[in-house]
Amino acid sequence: MKNAIEALQSRRTIRTYTAQPVERRIIEEIVDCARLAPTAMNDQPWDFIAVTGKEALGRIPPMLGHAEFVANAAFAVLVLSREATCAVEDCCAATENLLIAAEAHGLGACWVAGAPQPYAPAVAKAFGAPQDRKLIAIVSFGYPAEAPVVEKRTLADVLHWEKF
Ligand SMILES: Cc1cc2nc3c(=O)[nH]c(=O)nc-3n(C[C@H](O)[C@H](O)[C@H](O)COP(=O)(O)O)c2cc1C
Repeated sequence: MKNAIEALQSRRTIRTYTAQPVERRIIEEIVDCARLAPTAMNDQPWDFIAVTGKEALGRIPPMLGHAEFVANAAFAVLVLSREATCAVEDCCAATENLLIAAEAHGLGACWVAGAPQPYAPAVAKAFGAPQDRKLIAIVSFGYPAEAPVVEKRTLADVLHWEKF
């Protein structure tokens, strides 16, 4: 398993997956890492829905109108938030933890936008979320069948010492 620094350095968004299933134990560990993320005032405003069924995964892209790759994922996690002071920030921290935990396990993942996209309420409802929960993100997961190269701004470009 990769350590945190290795996982952060090697992670890239993966949208093409092999047909290999992911053990339930690994799915649980990935979500367990998400629920340990920091939150404003320790609100922990989230719930997570793990979607593993092929039919259910296939229902997601038509609701979004994009992200067809979700249908071919081994599983997806819907990140939902109740009302909270920093609900979006909290849930984005949890979502990043999902991505890094997946990478540490050798899985690929793709973060798909939730709120404020117009489809977010319908997706949350379709998966049985109570009305007071907002869909913040959808993350698809699977063993990677691609190794994309993504251009990143360099450290020298983004790091300013002492002042901008
Ligand atoms: C808030 C957020 C929303 C995103 N939404 C989508 C999406 O709807 N569809 C998609 O294919 N990728 C989505 N992505 C993935 C980005 O396209 C990807 O992170 C970006 O191109 C940088 O690539 P990297 O993740 O490999 O560094 C999203 C990422 C973030 C952080």
